Amino acid sequence: MSAPDPRNQAARLDAVDSLGAFRDAFALPRGPDGQPLIYLCGHSLGLAPRDARKIVIGELDDWELLGVLGHEQARHPWIGYAEMLQQDLAELCGAEPAEVVAMNSLTVNLHLLLAGFYHPGTPRRRILLEAGAFSSDRHVITSQLRWHGLDPAAEMIELTPRPGDHLLRIEDIEARIATEGESLALILWPGVQYRTGQCFDLARIAAAARRVGAVLCLDLAHAIGNVLLDLHGWAVDCAAWCSYKYLNGGPGAIGGAFVHRRHQDNTRLTPLLGWWGHEPDSRFQMPSEHLPAEGAMRWQLSNPPILSTAPLLASLREFHRAGMQRLRAKSIQLTDFLESLLLPSLDQYLQLLTPHRSEERGAQLSLRLFGPRDHARRVYESLLPRGVVADWREPHIIRIAPAPMYTSFDDVRRAAEIIAAAVLETR
Ligand SMILES: Cc1ncc(COP(=O)(O)O)c(C=O)c1O
Repeated sequence: MSAPDPRNQAARLDAVDSLGAFRDAFALPRGPDGQPLIYLCGHSLGLAPRDARKIVIGELDDWELLGVLGHEQARHPWIGYAEMLQQDLAELCGAEPAEVVAMNSLTVNLHLLLAGFYHPGTPRRRILLEAGAFSSDRHVITSQLRWHGLDPAAEMIELTPRPGDHLLRIEDIEARIATEGESLALILWPGVQYRTGQCFDLARIAAAARRVGAVLCLDLAHAIGNVLLDLHGWAVDCAAWCSYKYLNGGPGAIGGAFVHRRHQDNTRLTPLLGWWGHEPDSRFQMPSEHLPAEGAMRWQLSNPPILSTAPLLASLREFHRAGMQRLRAKSIQLTDFLESLLLPSLDQYLQLLTPHRSEERGAQLSLRLFGPRDHARRVYESLLPRGVVADWREPHIIRIAPAPMYTSFDDVRRAAEIIAAAVLETR
């Protein structure tokens, strides 16, 4: 029997895609010929929701019309802006609305969470992370340890994959947590690894952390809006994310944080305080005592940046309408389809760094090209002129992610053809 024709396969899948219409809610960047590019870079910067312009302009209009009165009289009163995002963010996190807050940016939020949750003592003071962690996460831990007068070389534990492996195994993560036992104060772990696209079993990591009494803090930069999360159910202590990737909040968009409800009255926590984390009804009385707002809201320091939050409001509406379950189901289909079109035919030229099993990855596939770095780089550089937006990680990795909100199966089919041609012709 001959292999199915990818063009027909893609057409069939697009015809029954119940999320297909959401593509029109986003602006697709165009190439020099005026045609939409195939955008596989939602893991880096998501696309602009078409309503973002309207909402941002609306805020500017209200500012011009109302000045300071906009805090209460704008169409979306600025005083309650962060609160407007809570319900939709909670849906994406698997959390209660009071457990999430939109604020600051990711690295800032990681620092704030660690300021509140990390209390090194004896013997409990070590921090565990993965050896390939995003640079900023390492910097956060290194500087937090130094801030407490501790030596990162002694107290920061970096877990590496087994020799010859490039992915971490869940049983090795659990075993390391158990071995560190009561020396472990905190674990900083990604939901989805930025470089390999590996999606971790966070329920098991959370359970392992609880067994030894360590705090689990998650970096959800590549997970939120990408994979299904159940932060409350898994009893994760805290988490932070940025909103410019799968959440389409725009460049430098406001980030977010989660703090589990069980920490509401935890008197051991030492969150850094600011007036915006004060209970809203008496905030403007400027009391000298800080009365914490409910839940994650108490972690806010300042009033939110309305203009960098407005696009997120537009995007979260689309997430709410689409539903994360449906998005994830389509995402699995898209990424599996992409993999099936690229591999095994390109096996001799590249390796898929991302796990093959869909439950162990999100939308992203990371392709490691064989051969010299410059050759791999030429392959990557030939993609954009052929109409595909991907990204590059040194020394030889191309990352591609068909975000289900705005990517069609035919996009994936064409991208696979273009990538295959780029690999075969750039030799
Ligand atoms: C996994 C991960 N952590 C942290 C960051 C840092 O984010 P920010 O610049 O918003 O602090 C990024 C940015 O891309 C990231 O991908």
